[in-house]
Amino acid sequence: MGAALEDDTISAALDRAMAAGAEVRGTTSPNPPVGAVIVSAAGEVAGVGATQPVGGAHAEVMALRAAGEKSRGGTAVVTLEPCAHTGRTGPCTQALIDAGVARVYYLHSDPTSQAAGGARALAEAGVDVIKLEKPPQVEDALVPWLWAMRTRRPHITLKFAQSLDGFTAAADGTSQWITGEAARDWVHADRERRDAIVVGTGTALADNPSLTARFRNGSLREHQPRRVVIGKRDLKSAGDAASNLRELGYEQYESIDEALYELYASGARDVLVEGGAGLASSFLKADLVDAISAYIAPVLLGEGRGVLAHPVTQTLKEATRFQRVGMKPLGDDVLIEYVR
Ligand SMILES: NC(=O)c1ccc[n+]([C@@H]2O[C@H](COP(=O)([O-])OP(=O)(O)OC[C@H]3O[C@@H](n4cnc5c(N)ncnc54)[C@H](OP(=O)(O)O)[C@@H]3O)[C@@H](O)[C@H]2O)c1
Repeated sequence: MGAALEDDTISAALDRAMAAGAEVRGTTSPNPPVGAVIVSAAGEVAGVGATQPVGGAHAEVMALRAAGEKSRGGTAVVTLEPCAHTGRTGPCTQALIDAGVARVYYLHSDPTSQAAGGARALAEAGVDVIKLEKPPQVEDALVPWLWAMRTRRPHITLKFAQSLDGFTAAADGTSQWITGEAARDWVHADRERRDAIVVGTGTALADNPSLTARFRNGSLREHQPRRVVIGKRDLKSAGDAASNLRELGYEQYESIDEALYELYASGARDVLVEGGAGLASSFLKADLVDAISAYIAPVLLGEGRGVLAHPVTQTLKEATRFQRVGMKPLGDDVLIEYVR
């Protein structure tokens, strides 16, 4: 059995594994975007891997393949407890044991009943198994998946862009664009890592959105989220309104419950709700908002349409408070990220 590595080496390997997982976010559902790093017995990073799209290899197997013989006597650092079950692929625990890995560090326990037990299986095979701890952070690509597994519905992030005084459109209704180019680029990069983007029929009809993940030149990014509209109004007979969605294809559900049920059942784990004000209020009122991405632009409007259309609390004392987990300058705008 190899000697224990320095804490710094493990911490750097965990950061590397988290980055590898973040890179495949949006492409793995219903499987989690896991990252794995194999550190050789000599303390060198020998292999990095991440979850492949459904039916493909898990992160540990990708990292073991990259490390080859250097896995023997080495250490695996994984963002999720290695699975102990045979699904579409064999158990990762067995792959780690077969490769002769001496020690496994993992960040999150597997909350699913079929895949759990990996740590125990490894320990029974004589592998040292250590659970790591890290404070919650926005860079952790597994958070939405873990949340979805626990709640049996997709994790919901509410996104909006607002003026400094909380408006999303000016008095004459103009709303494009409140934020600058850097923020809009970030929105598209964010869309690419989600399983689905949701808007209300009001936005679908008023803005004729495409709900695609694009580059600044208009070309499509590699991964496209599902396009989802909630509400009863018919988009099919709406003339030019909503013509982009009709052309690109979309799913429509008449209620939030139906949408979340169908999205979860068909594998979506990480969902972005992009408004408008009516639908955002409904999600908040139903206590279904797990995270918020607020893009704030350095402009004051004085009057206009607000982020929300209806009260979501009667009194300040009962209002839900969110915890800030990230803050990112984007040109002159700022993105603030919160979790419940
Ligand atoms: N700055 C931003 O971040 C931003 C983002 C998005 C949109 N916007 C702006 O917001 C405006 C649209 O806002 P909006 O409030 O009119 O429209 P909306 O929120 O997009 O859609 C409202 C519709 O959603 C459906 N809905 C809401 N709650 C529901 C629930 N609990 N169950 C089922 N369906 C529900 C209803 O559809 P039915 O009536 O069809 O049943 C409702 O009429 C647009 O002008 C757009 O430009 C701004």
